[in-house]
Amino acid sequence: MCGIIAITTSSNTKVSKLITTGLKRLEYRGYDSVGIATINQGKIETLKDAGTIDRVNQKLNFENLEGSIGIGHTRWATHGPPNQINAHPHADCTKKIMVVHNGIIENYLEIKSDLERKGHIFTSQTDSEVIVHLVEEELKLANPPKSVIQAFKNTITKLEGAYAITLIHTDEPETIFLARKDSPLVIGVQEDTKFAASDIPAFLEHTKKVIILKNGEIGVITPKTVYIEKNGFRVQPKPFIVSWTAESAQKSGYPHFMLKEIHEQPIALKNTINIDSEELSKASKKILESTRIVFLACGTSYHAGLSGFHQIQRILPKKPIYPIIASEYETYSHLIDEETLIIAISQSGETLDVMKALSAARKNKAQVISLANVTDSSIPRLSHISLYTKAGPEIGVAATKTHTAQVALLARLAIQLEFEAGELSKDDYSVQVDNLVQQTPQIVRTVINQNELKAKKLASIIQNQNHSYFLARGLNMPVALEGALKLKEISYIHAEAFPAGESKHGPIAIVETNFPIVMIAPDDWTTKKMLGNAEEMKARGGYIISVTEKDHRITERSDYSFFIPKAFSPIINPISYVVPLQMLAYYTAVRRGYDPDKPKNLAKTVTVE
Ligand code: AGP
Repeated sequence: MCGIIAITTSSNTKVSKLITTGLKRLEYRGYDSVGIATINQGKIETLKDAGTIDRVNQKLNFENLEGSIGIGHTRWATHGPPNQINAHPHADCTKKIMVVHNGIIENYLEIKSDLERKGHIFTSQTDSEVIVHLVEEELKLANPPKSVIQAFKNTITKLEGAYAITLIHTDEPETIFLARKDSPLVIGVQEDTKFAASDIPAFLEHTKKVIILKNGEIGVITPKTVYIEKNGFRVQPKPFIVSWTAESAQKSGYPHFMLKEIHEQPIALKNTINIDSEELSKASKKILESTRIVFLACGTSYHAGLSGFHQIQRILPKKPIYPIIASEYETYSHLIDEETLIIAISQSGETLDVMKALSAARKNKAQVISLANVTDSSIPRLSHISLYTKAGPEIGVAATKTHTAQVALLARLAIQLEFEAGELSKDDYSVQVDNLVQQTPQIVRTVINQNELKAKKLASIIQNQNHSYFLARGLNMPVALEGALKLKEISYIHAEAFPAGESKHGPIAIVETNFPIVMIAPDDWTTKKMLGNAEEMKARGGYIISVTEKDHRITERSDYSFFIPKAFSPIINPISYVVPLQMLAYYTAVRRGYDPDKPKNLAKTVTVE
């Protein structure tokens, strides 16, 4: 997810200043590199570099750029590490055309090789750069010469994937060309100035008059005009007046980033699972050739690692696999040698406990695969293979969309491994991958729609409790651990997760009337015993909250139930079953008067030991 903005004005305002403040309002969408381009006296001027907006602006001083038309971009790297050449905007060979893009061009490799064969010189590793070279090629070929808009429209028809695009050409020094598919793009309307951006906050201080560009629409804006068409026919949407404040607009109207990010999980999952199998195949081969495997992570990422442990152990039951908490590395360091594969999981890619353990493991010649959400961050740089979740920046301190994206990526890796291990036929492999890609986002969307109000209501029931238990068995334990961590880290209610079979070995002693006990109970081999655990807790006055399937017998013993649709495979249960618990934690924190985005004593990235 990146932030883009474009402005054209007939007032004598220098747009570089407006673009810079607009990018600051979009920083929550990405911040690993940033750039601006303007047209000044018929020439393109560009400033861009890796780093946050403030740091790059301090170094390059964006306001040096003259001109009354310009585009800007703050990046969250997906293709190509965050550095100066990969920062947007990107130019064509003639340096007359500039583009900024948010999204993923899925067919960029074939477009790029075709354009290179035609002599185009690419300067970046990004997918986005193909856009400007395509427009250039369209204009070069034309006889009689095409208009820029025609070349632009022809270009858009060739792109597959998701995009929000703003493009400028020195031949049309007042015009900005827009296109949108699956990535947001909105237009801000002022008398003599027009804005286009990924999100309303970018220009909200200048105008509240907004037009939403819809999927498949092409826009052309100049200081005085807005033209929009779809499939060659003009559309004339009515602008609407937004009532949001700038701050609430960054959250797209949600009260907190955490709730927004919970709701972003379907798209985060879709973007993550849609991964090319080449990297997965390399990772699978490394798993198969390793003598032992160590999952290495902290906190919520450790819970994702536990899911990965269960998924891989199911496929390779004879291979020693150790899920370890990174700060406990020394306890296991005797295991680490050149035959050990470390799978390091970290959304930030910067957690010091993980980095320290990885550095020690590398000294012992271990092989390393990393799963991170930040391209080219420190932990991927310590890895032989880097796999990336594509959840976009996560602003809420409590991990939600990055966690389910990690579990989904591990599930996709497990399917690849099962296939490469010869345990899955080619047809079954394709079916499993299709099911994962198609069903996972849909099931999570359904879970959110069907359980959010229940979570809100349950929050009011448990809000005054001081203690809670989260119980599960076997492969469902990661959900219990993650649910407990979410509740305690943002609502400050003490929450303890442990295997349900352990209850009678001590923990049940403190259960009393209305003591909340969350039980993770899909219909699987754990069912019978989970029923027994529910009985024993209920007998002591426990308030049983089950996360289960509609007709599961545990609902008869439950005081409250969240229902999860049955999936094509239990492989996605650690994803779908955790979502109601994310919402429960969120609404309980809000009921208790806390800010879920900024829990006390916690940081989004733990860079201390
Ligand atoms: C997330 O909800 C937690 N606040 C925290 O445990 C986090 O998961 C942990 O610090 C690991 O972070 P990482 O994924 O960036 O390595």
